[in-house]
Amino acid sequence: MSTDAIVILKNDHKTIKKLFKEFQDAGENASQTKGRIVARIIEELTVHTYLENECMYPEVRKLLPDLEDDVLESYEEHHVADILCAELHTMEPSDERFDAKTTVLIENVTHHIDEEEKDWFPQVREGLGRKQLQELGARMNEMREKAPRSPSQPSALKKAVDAVTA
Ligand SMILES: [Fe+2]
Ligand SMILES: [Fe+2]
Repeated sequence: MSTDAIVILKNDHKTIKKLFKEFQDAGENASQTKGRIVARIIEELTVHTYLENECMYPEVRKLLPDLEDDVLESYEEHHVADILCAELHTMEPSDERFDAKTTVLIENVTHHIDEEEKDWFPQVREGLGRKQLQELGARMNEMREKAPRSPSQPSALKKAVDAVTA
């Protein structure tokens, strides 16, 4: 398993984008399948957001103050995704707004992932270097074990708020 923080986060992105595609390819009806895929999307996003909010973002903010505006924008984008995930978590796939809400989640998160991968990660890699990224990655691998997997776990939402208001 890689311990480079950016490689780890990009792997998560790949898993998440694959699930997005599965949802989009599932077809008009297929609400059972879509319900299952969305449950997995929510789980993957909850873990990934936790690792970024709790480890990656605060470290980058501390070590690379020039990237602070990007970090703050990212917290807000996570917050929007958190709300959509929390709402979807309580909905049934047969709900008339289920597909629409999932589509908006997918659009938002795809935009966010693109920004991270195209603008943000390259600057972080340049600023932190290999050793610091490996230390960060090792910490994230450890944190993954106890990360919340569902939006109903208090640590999932509370941490996002703490991270911004601290
Ligand atoms: Fe992110
Ligand atoms: Fe990410």
